[in-house]
Amino acid sequence: MESSIEQVIRGRRTIGSFLPDLPPASEIEAAIEWASWAPNHKKTEPWRIVWLGPETAAAVVELNSHLIAKTKGFAEAEKKRLTWSTIPGWLVVTSLRSADSFRQEEDYAASCCFIQNLLLALWSKKIGTKWSTGDVTRDPQFHELLGIDPAQERVVGLIWYGYPAVIPEQNRQSPTSFVRKLK
Ligand SMILES: Cc1cc2nc3c(=O)[nH]c(=O)nc-3n(C[C@H](O)[C@H](O)[C@H](O)COP(=O)(O)O)c2cc1C
Repeated sequence: MESSIEQVIRGRRTIGSFLPDLPPASEIEAAIEWASWAPNHKKTEPWRIVWLGPETAAAVVELNSHLIAKTKGFAEAEKKRLTWSTIPGWLVVTSLRSADSFRQEEDYAASCCFIQNLLLALWSKKIGTKWSTGDVTRDPQFHELLGIDPAQERVVGLIWYGYPAVIPEQNRQSPTSFVRKLK
């Protein structure tokens, strides 16, 4: 039975630990296509995806531990290397830059809508994700490893995916705390 949109939106959680199995590439490809129906002003479709294979993912894991070793020490770096090594699937979503700052801001917003669509599409297939914007995603070596020209594209998120090992609980404030109704 297909999940209702409410179940998918409410139920999606950021996943911190994954089972080892890699979801089929066809499921990811389908979710990427669904995600591309995100709203985007002027029909710019500004999102770009870098889909990492195991070799590139391993290089990112190494780069991240190297960066952490410099700031937080070897023990913390090793801890991260071990946890990051268990992540099955890796995508990076970027957004095209523009000479027009307003266009670039709108395009970044559209790329965020694309990511939310992607996370929901994957969740509807029982695939969990984590959207991450850790320091490594802004490191020049990260751009180099992934073939991203930072003058042309901005990284919007590193998206880990896989089947969840644990689904955490979450909560939200009531809309009465953030909605102002006018007469
Ligand atoms: C732009 C953006 C960046 C995020 N970066 C991180 C991150 O670097 N590390 C992390 O653990 N979670 C990150 N998250 C996920 C949030 O922590 C998560 O959405 C929040 O805790 C609410 O949990 P939920 O997604 O399960 O509702 C990010 C989310 C967004 C929208």
